[in-house]
Amino acid sequence: MSEAISESVFPDPASMPLEDIDVSNAMLFKHDAFWPYFERLRNEDPVHYCKASAFGPYWSITKFNDIMEIEKNHEVFSSEVGGITITERQTDFKTSSFIQMDPPKHDIQRKTVTGVVAPSNLSLLEPIIRERAGKILDELPIGETFDWVDRVSIELTTQMLATLFDFPFEDRRKLTYWSDMATSSVLSGGTTPEEKRREALLECLEVFTGLWNERINQPPGNDLISMMAHSKNTQNMDPMEYLGNLILLIVGGNDTTRNSLSGGVYFLNKNPAEYAKLRANQDLIPGMVSEIIRYQTPLAHMRRTATQDYVLRGKHIKKGDKVIMWYVSANRDEDVIDNPNAFLIDRDRSRHHMSFGFGLHRCMGNRLAEMQLRTVWEEIMKRFEFVELMGEPERVQSSFVKGYETLPVRLHARK
Ligand code: HEM
Repeated sequence: MSEAISESVFPDPASMPLEDIDVSNAMLFKHDAFWPYFERLRNEDPVHYCKASAFGPYWSITKFNDIMEIEKNHEVFSSEVGGITITERQTDFKTSSFIQMDPPKHDIQRKTVTGVVAPSNLSLLEPIIRERAGKILDELPIGETFDWVDRVSIELTTQMLATLFDFPFEDRRKLTYWSDMATSSVLSGGTTPEEKRREALLECLEVFTGLWNERINQPPGNDLISMMAHSKNTQNMDPMEYLGNLILLIVGGNDTTRNSLSGGVYFLNKNPAEYAKLRANQDLIPGMVSEIIRYQTPLAHMRRTATQDYVLRGKHIKKGDKVIMWYVSANRDEDVIDNPNAFLIDRDRSRHHMSFGFGLHRCMGNRLAEMQLRTVWEEIMKRFEFVELMGEPERVQSSFVKGYETLPVRLHARK
C-alpha cells in the first residue's frame, strides 16, 4: 500500500464524525486504507448506520459474533430479497443462484452440486492439481521479475476451474475473463461499463449452454455441468438461473483462491520470521493456509436484507434495510481472535475465521480451496527458497472482492 496516497486522499477516520464513515468506498480498498475505519467502528459503533453512500443507506456489522447472529437468522436476514452484495441487483438483468436464495430452494439446489466437493472427489482432484501446479511452477523464470498474479495465481485457479467444469482446456482464460467481468461493474464501484459486463455474461451463458446440451445427451459425469444437467432439481433452470449458478461457481472458485495465493506471498514477505518458520517446518502449511485465508479475507463482505424489524446491540434495524456483514473486520476482532493483526502461520485454531462466512450459506468450496492452496504451497516449497516481493501490489478497486491486480516477484531456486 502507499501510505502517502491513502493519507492524502482519505479523511482521518479518528477525527471525522462517526455518522460520516462510509466503508463501502471502493477506493479505500484499492489503497488498502480501510483498516482504521473498521477499527473505529468495532470500538465505538459496531452496528453502524451509514445514511448515504454510492450504494444507498446501509448498516455495517463489524464484530465477529454479531455477524454470526445475523448469518444464523436467515428468516430475518434474507439473501434472496436484496442479493448478497452491497450493490443493488439490476432488475432488467437479474441472474439468480442459490447463494441468493433462502430455504427451501437454496438447500435443494446446493445439495445438487455439493457432491463435486465431497471428500472422495477432492482426493481424486488433488493429484491433478499437484501435477498442474508443478508444471506451472516449473515453467517460471528464476531470478527475473514477473507478475505472480498473472503467471501463477490466475493460471492455477483457472486450470482448477476448467477441471471442475470439464471446460475446454485451451479456452480456460475465458473463465477468468467472465469472472472478472461479473464482479467489476461500474455499478459496484469497479471499472467495467455495465454494457460490457452484460455482453461478457451472455457470451458465458451461450458457451455453457452449448456444453450443457452436449452433456445432457451423455451419461452423467463428475463435472459440475453434467451434475446440474442430470439432476431433477436443476434440470429445469431458466437461462438466468443457470447463468447465476455458473457465475457463482466461477467467481466462488476463482477470485477467492486466486487472491489467497497472491496474499500468501505478500504476507510471508512482510513477515520474514513467519517465512523462516515455514522453511524450517513445512508441516505448518495446512495451518498457514487457513491463516492466509483469514488474513486476506478474499470477500470483504456479504449482504443481507432485513425481512422484519430487528434489534441488534440496541440498534433498530428496520424491515427492508440493507445489512452488510464485514468479514474483513470480523477477522480482526480482538474479542474473538488473539492478536488479530498479526500474521502467524502457527496460530491456534487457525480455521476459526469468518472468510468462508457461517451458517447455511457457509462457503461450499472451503475444503477444496484449502486443499488447492495447501497443494500449491507444498509444490512451491519444493522448488523455491524464496518468492521475493519486488514491489507493492496493485489492488482491486472493490469493497467486495478484496484482492490484487498485480504482484511483482522474483524467484530464488532451492539450493
Ligand atoms: C479462499 C477461497 C474462498 C473463499 C474465501 C470463499 C468465500 C465464500 C463466502 C464468504 C461465501 C458466502 C458465505 C456466507 O454467506 O455465509 C461463499 C459461498 C460459496 N462459495 Fe466460496 N469461497 C472460496 C472458495 C470457493 C471455491 C473454490 C468454490 C468452488 C466450488 C466456492 C463456492 C462457493 C459456493 C457455491 C458458495 C455458495 C454457498 C451457499 O450459498 O450455500 N468457494 N464462499
